[in-house]
Amino acid sequence: MPSTVVVGGFFGDEGKGKIISYLALKDNPSIVVRGGAGPNAGHTVKDGDKIYKIRMLPSGFLNKKSKVMIGPGVVINPDVLLKEINDFGVSDRAFIDRNCGIIEQTHLAQDSKGRLKETLGTTGSGTGPANAERAMRTLKLAKDIESLSSYLEDIPRVVNLALDSNENVLVEGTQGTHLSLWHGTYPYVTSKDVTASGICADIGLGPKKVNDVLVVFKSYVTRVGTGPMSNELTPEETSKKGWAEVGTVTGRSRRAAEFDFELAQRAIMLNSATQIAITKLDVLYPDCAHKTSFNTLTDEAKSFIKKIEANLHVPVALIGTGPNVNDIIDLRK
Ligand code: IMP
Ligand code: MG
Repeated sequence: MPSTVVVGGFFGDEGKGKIISYLALKDNPSIVVRGGAGPNAGHTVKDGDKIYKIRMLPSGFLNKKSKVMIGPGVVINPDVLLKEINDFGVSDRAFIDRNCGIIEQTHLAQDSKGRLKETLGTTGSGTGPANAERAMRTLKLAKDIESLSSYLEDIPRVVNLALDSNENVLVEGTQGTHLSLWHGTYPYVTSKDVTASGICADIGLGPKKVNDVLVVFKSYVTRVGTGPMSNELTPEETSKKGWAEVGTVTGRSRRAAEFDFELAQRAIMLNSATQIAITKLDVLYPDCAHKTSFNTLTDEAKSFIKKIEANLHVPVALIGTGPNVNDIIDLRK
C-alpha cells in the first residue's frame, strides 16, 4: 500500500515505535514521516542488543534507505532533534519542514510548573506552550533557526510527489486517540488532535491520499499523567500482572487497566481504521513470547485476538510478541 498511517488507539505508549520500525524494515517505504504534537512523544525501538529512545525523529529510521521527515504541524526542540540526528547517524536523510514550530527555553519553563505540570501532568517538554504560541502566531519557525538550515524541506510537497510516483510512504502518529485535544478526555489531553486526520494534516496529506489506517492497541491500557481511566488497577495489582511500566520521556510510572473495548471501538470510529495492531501479547500470555505465526499461539491468546476482531469489526494485521523488531506476527496478505 502506498500510504499507511499509524496511530495510537488508547492514551499513547501502545508500542507504536516497535510497529513502525517493523513496517519500515519490512515494507521499505521511501519516506517515514512524523506528524503529532512534539517531543512530548517517546518511542522505544529495540534492534538486537540496541535500544533506541526517540522523541523527535520518526521511529522508522532503522531502515537506512528510508528518508525520515517531520511535517510542519509538529513543534521541534532543536537540541533534542540535533542530538538524535547525530546519535542515530541520519544527517544525510533527515528532513524537517520549514514551518515546523520551535520550542524555546520559555516554553520548557512554562510546562514545568503550575497548572500544566501539577493538574494536567504534562510531560514538561514545552510542547503545549509552544503550540499555544503558534495559535497566537508569535512562535518562531524552523526556517528562522540557523542550526536547522541544512535539514529544511517542503515536506508536504516531497511526500505528495513520492505518492504520485507510487512510492511507499509510512506516516507515523504520536500519542494516542484519547489524548486528542478534540476527541480525548479534555482537559487531560495533549495540545493537538492526534487522530489519523490530525496526523495527516500535520504533514499535508489530504484524506484521499490515505490507503491504510493502522490503529495500534496494547494488550492492556496504560496512561501516564492525570485524567480519567476506567477500571484502573492499583499499583500492586499492576505490578502483579507484570504491567508496570515507566514513561519514556518522563520516567513516571504508568497507570494500567485491562483492554478497554469501549475506548477501542471509539478509536476505530474516530480514525476510520482499516487495520489493527495488538502489541505486548507476550506480556498478557508469556507462552506467546517471540512467536511469529498465529498457529503457534495458545488457545487463550488466539481467542483474545478473535474477540478483538469480533468486537471491533476490523482485521488484526500485526501482533507484537516481544520487544524486538522481529518479535511479530504479520497477518497481512
Ligand atoms: P503534554 O502533551 O506534554 O502537554 O501532556 C498532556 C498529557 O498527555 C499528559 O497526561 C501526558 O502524560 C500525556 N502525553 C503526552 N505525550 C504522551 C506520549 O507520547 N505518551 C503518553 N502520554 C503522553
Ligand atoms: Mg511513548
